[in-house]
Amino acid sequence: MTARTLTRLIKADTAAPGIAADCLRAGGLVAFPTETVYGLGADAADGAAIARLYLAKGRPSFNPLIAHVADIAAARRLAVFDADSERLARSFWPGPLTLVLPKAPACPVAPLATAGLDTIAVRVPNSGIAQAILRAFGGPIVAPSANLSGHVSPTTAAHVRADLDGRIDLIVDGGPTPVGMESAIVGCGGDGPVLLRPGGIAREAIEQVLGRPLRQPPDDAAEAPAAPGMLASHYAPAARLRLAAKEVRPGEALLAFGAGTVRGAQAAVAVLNLSPAGDLVEAAANLFAHLRALDRPGVAGIAVMPIPHEGLGEAINDRLARAAAPKDNG
Ligand code: TXA
Ligand code: MG
Repeated sequence: MTARTLTRLIKADTAAPGIAADCLRAGGLVAFPTETVYGLGADAADGAAIARLYLAKGRPSFNPLIAHVADIAAARRLAVFDADSERLARSFWPGPLTLVLPKAPACPVAPLATAGLDTIAVRVPNSGIAQAILRAFGGPIVAPSANLSGHVSPTTAAHVRADLDGRIDLIVDGGPTPVGMESAIVGCGGDGPVLLRPGGIAREAIEQVLGRPLRQPPDDAAEAPAAPGMLASHYAPAARLRLAAKEVRPGEALLAFGAGTVRGAQAAVAVLNLSPAGDLVEAAANLFAHLRALDRPGVAGIAVMPIPHEGLGEAINDRLARAAAPKDNG
């Protein structure tokens, strides 16, 4: 049982970074926007704060967290870079790319945050308010997406509140997050860079910088996941999803994409379009908010129109496939 806490909500104004940093220093839990989704931050060096973070999310403790830092210099104190990771960091940071790297010998991040692994996930977010909080705090902040474990990631402060009100200390409201999709996660070292999670930067863009293809995670990743949060049903909403739907069935809502339509669309319980223009960047930004909006009582299921697999479509289809997977223990 978590004790109920009073959750304070503040706007991302000039006072917000100082308030957030003070709260983190006191061992508090602070939700704040990054360019991808809202993160739930804790002091990365404070094991007790991290334990409370797992509790607040209801997250299995074997699932390691991403350490957020303000720049590459700060990342070097946490992780060891090789030529590939160096190139990726220079090209995409600040931005929606997370690198999984060998932990640096003097890495100050609490072992609980890395689930005892000898690697660490590091990211430099590209968001004014996230950067301001990191600089005001002056150290790494671990931040999973600020949702209850098993729910879709939050792209607005209202989403965070719906999941975590009374369980965390502070929410910094900086409006909707522009990318709307979690960061892409690339593991470096070993047999060459591997795409552990498709995300806010398209595979093609990453491969162009590397000058070679990314490896796929091994097939047994579902049982012993290299990115352990990639359990099949991780993103599941309560309503059943039907992917690449050619028609809308009775009782279903429609999650549309592009200018086209499908049979039965007029009878849909509700309709939202990820991008009427068929733009995959816009679709990524809308995905989680639209899933949340359609996932409500009275909606028996959600029919999802086919979405192309190229560019950010890979990450969108990945999240949809997980949301459609049968739930394990939620
Ligand atoms: O965009 C994002 O990445 C957001 C924002 C808040 O930065 N964060 C986010 O965190 O999506 P989270 O905790 O929901 O997902 C992090 C993923 C998990 O799948 C976790 O298992 C994986 O990163 N991960 C963390 N450390 C790892 C490691 N050492 N090796 C492999 N995977 C790791
Ligand atoms: Mg998450």
